[in-house]
Amino acid sequence: MIGCGYLGTSHAVGMAQLGHDVIALDIDEDKIAALSACELPFYEPGLGELLRKNVESGRLRFTTSYDEIAGADVHFVCVGTPQLAGSFNADLRWVESAFAELARRLTEPAVIVGRSTVPVGTARRMADLVRGHTGRVEVAWNPEFLREGRAVEDTLQPARLVFGVESPQAERLLRAVYRPIIEDGCPVVVGDYATAELVKVSANAFLATKISFINAIAQICEATGADVLRIAEALGHDVRIGRDFLGPGLGFGGGCLPKDIRALYACAADLGLADVATLIRQIDVVNTSRRERAFAVGRELLGGSYAEKRVCVLGAAFKPNTDDVRDSPALAVAVAAHEAGARVVVHDPVAMESARRVHPEIEYADTVLMAARDADVIMLLTEWTDFADIDPVQLSGVVRCRNMLDGRNALTPERWRSAGWTYRA
Ligand code: UGA
Repeated sequence: MIGCGYLGTSHAVGMAQLGHDVIALDIDEDKIAALSACELPFYEPGLGELLRKNVESGRLRFTTSYDEIAGADVHFVCVGTPQLAGSFNADLRWVESAFAELARRLTEPAVIVGRSTVPVGTARRMADLVRGHTGRVEVAWNPEFLREGRAVEDTLQPARLVFGVESPQAERLLRAVYRPIIEDGCPVVVGDYATAELVKVSANAFLATKISFINAIAQICEATGADVLRIAEALGHDVRIGRDFLGPGLGFGGGCLPKDIRALYACAADLGLADVATLIRQIDVVNTSRRERAFAVGRELLGGSYAEKRVCVLGAAFKPNTDDVRDSPALAVAVAAHEAGARVVVHDPVAMESARRVHPEIEYADTVLMAARDADVIMLLTEWTDFADIDPVQLSGVVRCRNMLDGRNALTPERWRSAGWTYRA
């Protein structure tokens, strides 16, 4: 396994759990030291226990040396492909260096399986690169679909497996690697490299489209008085539509959906598909506008200005059940309020350390009540389940003004309004 981020670590643990002998590599020595000591460098429910179990059984170990992994039969490349600074494209430097480092060392027949999310055409380039070094190594692409916060479940019981292969041998090998999962009934879709690459980006783009679609409808609801939650509920009963990812609110963030939608836009634009590029671009534009809208509603609740006001922000992670704050909608709104002159205090059940690292200029509080002290407005921006249980009567005792902006439609409005709060969502 090359790359020990969310994806690589979850996959390494998952493969060891299936009974394989796994060695996982990362160039970050601190990360490898932590993982070798059975400590997860990030928050992920259930993964820590499985990490310990598999390290202790001897099936899983970690290294920083490519030489140590050269003897494996299968190499999974799970490195990050973040958005390239100043561009909509993905930064492929880690993928390229992983394939190059491996190709230089492999002398025995092996398969290198890309799992990173990449623009279409990357697998072909990597196959050519590897072939330049050795004729005995094949490349396959096997995109991942795991969600942060549900990594264990998504790794061991995925909704589907997708193999992009150029030979029956590569397909056979991947089927052997995933045998227990396939025997459990997991569907397998086999195609060429480009198809496998595009399945992944299309999946994320479709999820992003659902979110931006319901948020577009939410804007029409705001203007007309209709209830977007009822609309989502009614749409969701249609099995062709489905209720998942129709949660209106602050929109999507994280390390995947935003950068994948932008990379797909860049791909469509490069291909000269102007209409397609426009469609995909608007998904991102609608999404970003939700952050601006939340900021504006907050300002209305504050009587027109953030200056000198005290703002309590509940949630820093880009979604619940993770400590990941990459492109977090919650933090974006918190930072905007801070820059508009408010004193912002953030509370998050697990993401405060990661938030503090990127935004030390904001204040952080260990409890909801501490964060809410003397607040002029409370903004609930990440829907941790704990927040749904907050007692509006108790909170009334610590805030300066009873203003609630529920950026995730996570609360029961009547409960807050009947306790004297001005509630906006
Ligand atoms: C996403 C995909 O769901 C995974 O299938 C994929 O493997 C992964 O990206 C990846 O490319 O690695 P993830 O980024 O963990 O997973 O997060 P999601 O659960 O998809 O949520 C993304 C964002 O959408 C979050 O900010 C969430 O708050 C937001 N969201 C989700 C909504 O605003 N409304 C919804 O109804 C659902």
